[in-house]
Amino acid sequence: MFFNHLQKVPPDPIFGLSDAFKEDSCPEKVDLSVGIYKTPSLKTPVLHCVEIAAKQILKHEKVGNYLPFDGDTQFVEEVKSLVFGDSFTRERVYGAQSLGGTGGLSILGEFISREIGKTIYVPDPTWANHVPIFQKAGLTTLTYPYYSHDKMGVHFEKTYAFLSNLPEKSIILLHACCHNPTGSDLNKEEWKLLSKLFKRKNFLPLFDLAYLGLGLGLDEDTYSIRLFSEVLSELLVVTTFSKNFSLYRERIGAVFAVTNGKRERDLVGGKIKRLIRVTYSNPPSYGAAIVKEILQNNELKEQWIEELGNIRIRLTNLRNQFVDLLKSENGLHNYQFLKEHKGMFSFCNLGKDQVRMLIDRFSIYMPDNGRINISGLNDQNIDYVIKAILHVSKL
Ligand code: LMR
Repeated sequence: MFFNHLQKVPPDPIFGLSDAFKEDSCPEKVDLSVGIYKTPSLKTPVLHCVEIAAKQILKHEKVGNYLPFDGDTQFVEEVKSLVFGDSFTRERVYGAQSLGGTGGLSILGEFISREIGKTIYVPDPTWANHVPIFQKAGLTTLTYPYYSHDKMGVHFEKTYAFLSNLPEKSIILLHACCHNPTGSDLNKEEWKLLSKLFKRKNFLPLFDLAYLGLGLGLDEDTYSIRLFSEVLSELLVVTTFSKNFSLYRERIGAVFAVTNGKRERDLVGGKIKRLIRVTYSNPPSYGAAIVKEILQNNELKEQWIEELGNIRIRLTNLRNQFVDLLKSENGLHNYQFLKEHKGMFSFCNLGKDQVRMLIDRFSIYMPDNGRINISGLNDQNIDYVIKAILHVSKL
């Protein structure tokens, strides 16, 4: 017998909830769990720019062979501009196509663990998949303080003090924008202070840029990465187009290493290409072709920027509506902090027991850290969700 010793795997802390939601027969059920953007009719859209790009690709796609290990070069160049800006010295940057954000994090995690160091510090809290991805890559994960439930936002003094005491050359995961799960980001002054600390301590940052364009805008959301790229000579970045192009099922993203110069860039590139070769060999082409088609065509790019802007507006409007309704339902509760959050998620300061009750009694689904996907709200369910949250908050 080879398999009988296997232990049952517990459900995924985020996707496991989708299965439970599907099976729930409650007519009022609400899904605020997985980080997928939804329209007011709670559908995940195919963007118009993506539809047009897909038709154009079909017309001129005539090649059927493998992509290189690190993917479509033109796609990677376009994404490089998006992330680092047009003026950044490209000679210093190595880039590769990745299988979404998770695929990129896995490859960079393995690169770090084989070549750089064995420990990575992640914010407390962080995306539920960060720790297992890094552990599978052979890294030990330790946390640094980030969010304070009392402050209902980032406790920057604590973050800074903790990081100041870490050994030189530590490797540290940073969320570039739209922090997942809290929605609480650092401000520009805090990023500046952190960049100086990272330089002084010779830290290596790994930026996770999963929500580019969903926070404040394309340039604003890359502020931290662009700043650190000016201040430091080396850093790593992972990005994905699942959220901002609504290309969840294409698994398209990219990884970048900013290096000291051409020599190091090629050395890092050699290692990453080797890792890709022995992991999945060559990436799929369709998602990269779509993103490239849009970014290389001014009209389509403008359309994408507009559609992304509309996503951002809907998220902001929902936050405002949510806070205002909470206030009018119960003036004692001050949820003003939710308006400050960025991106798809917010913490509503709910404990595990309260989340359990929201799921069991109200069929409102969210991970047990109390993170809500704002876009899962609409005019039909928002009152119900607010009443339920206020009910469980009185526990
Ligand atoms: C999330 O945080 O819900 C998303 O990034 C989806 C995922 O892969 O967990």
